[in-house]
Parts: sequence; structure tokens; C-alpha cells
Amino acid sequence: MRTVNHVAALRAQVAQWRDDGEQVALVPTMGNLHAGHLALVERARQIAERTVVSVFVNPFQFVPGEDYEAYPRTPDADRIKLSEAGVDVLFMPTVDELYERGFEATTRVQVPALDGILCGASRPGHFTGVATVVTKLFNIVGPDYAVFGDKDFQQLLVIRRLVEDLCIPVDVVAVATVRERDGLALSSRNVYLTTEERITAPRLYLTVKEVADRLRDGPSAAPLAELVQQARARLESNGFRADYVTIRRAADLGEPDPADTELVVLAAAWLGRARLIDHIEVTRG
Ligand code: PAF
Repeated sequence: MRTVNHVAALRAQVAQWRDDGEQVALVPTMGNLHAGHLALVERARQIAERTVVSVFVNPFQFVPGEDYEAYPRTPDADRIKLSEAGVDVLFMPTVDELYERGFEATTRVQVPALDGILCGASRPGHFTGVATVVTKLFNIVGPDYAVFGDKDFQQLLVIRRLVEDLCIPVDVVAVATVRERDGLALSSRNVYLTTEERITAPRLYLTVKEVADRLRDGPSAAPLAELVQQARARLESNGFRADYVTIRRAADLGEPDPADTELVVLAAAWLGRARLIDHIEVTRG
């Protein structure tokens, strides 16, 4: 595996692969890699001859007061894992390499319909930071495929939408959330959980699952507002500080009409220092 820090060198490498008729898959990450990321790499290697993984803690998707400085960075361990997983190139740019003029002066990408709702409401500007860096990575690598975790459901919709709106010729591939045995979704931020909080953490998933199971009951299910209210109360009584629990249309995160059948239950909640998110897609009966 080759480690590349500069855009020009990465472009030259990709151009060489293209000359050889090879397809390229990109897996964008912020590092501190776990089994969830390795599942993305595995998928990337199945669909393309060449795999590029970017490791870049993007400062501009952290809102003021968030954990940018403290975000876990484990470059040496990441390099070993990616090399063992058969990745061709690890792209590890510096902040200056990607944002030569600083973020304030950089052109931004914003997906208006999704930017300010749910996680975007409590983390204003977060999805603009994500959309901007992902667009830059797409333009740098020019991948045939880009592989993302389904865990960050709103992020995935933001990326699909920007690809569509900006006519970027890349196939966005989603990989199912990887979970611990007790249901907790793998996340780099799980390292913030204390031993006690780690025991409580899977209750977020269990609560979302309960709402999803009841929704599947169809017309006999309680009104959506009631399901959500009960779930929120359950989280709070278990020691979470709930940000939101909500049921939305899966396609665009809009408020569902009674006729909508493809829904998603989403929740975000703080547990100590960790902000956890989870979701389950449901076809309403
Ligand atoms: O999901 C992440 O790790 C990040 O938001 C991403 C997509 C790599 C952009 O920085």
C-alpha cells in the first residue's frame, strides 16, 4: 500500500490505473478505523480493481465547541489495518493541502433541503462541511464508486443528493451498519463512553428498534407522535439526553404522509461526552 499526501501525486496514480483500464473505488474516512470502516473497504475491493481510502479529519464539519482537537487520531494503526485489508492507496492530506485558502474563503457545497434538519439543526454547518470535503475528494480522485456507511443515514442522503445535483459521475454505494453483539453501532466516538455508559449505550438501538417494530404493525400502531414521545421518554429515563427521535420518509427525510410506506426511524442522543446516532428503515404495513 502506498501512502500519498498530495493531490497531484494521487491524481497521477489514478491516471495510471485509468490508462490500464482499471476502475477505482474511494472510501472516505476520518480515520480511527474500526470493523465498520473495514467493511467499507471490503465492499470497495469487491467492486473495483483499485481502492483508495482517504483519512482526513475534516475541521470544517465540526461545529464550534465540538471535539475536533480531541477526535481520536490513530494514523499508524490505520495504516496497518488498511495495508492488511489490501488497500492500494491511503490518501492522508494535511488541512492546508485540501483548504489552501482556509475554509472561510473556500467554495462550499450545501444541500439546502437536508442541511438544517435533524443532525444539521443541532450541528449547524456540519453537513456543508461534509458535502464540501466529499465533493473535493470526488474531484481529486474521480472514482467510479464511493463507499459510505449506512450508519450516518442523513449524511448518505446528503451525498447522494449532491452527486445528483452536481452531476458527479460516481456510484454511491452504501454498506449496512456494523454493530457490536449487543446492538451498539460501531463509531469512532464510542471511545468517549465510560464503562458504565457503554453498558447503557445499546439502549439507543433497542429504543429505535422498538419504534420500528411497532410501526411495522401498520394501522394498529399508535400515532407516530405518541411512538416518538414514548421513545424519547425511555431514552431520558435511561440517562440519555435526547436530541431527537423522529419518524421520517426514508427517501428525503420529509415528514411522512399517511400514504407513505417507506419510512425511517432516526434518533440522536448524548450519553456523557458521546453523541450517538442510530436509525432503522421500515416498510409500514
Ligand atoms: O463519515 C465520515 O467519516 C465523514 O463525515 C466523511 C464522509 C469522511 C467526510 O469527512
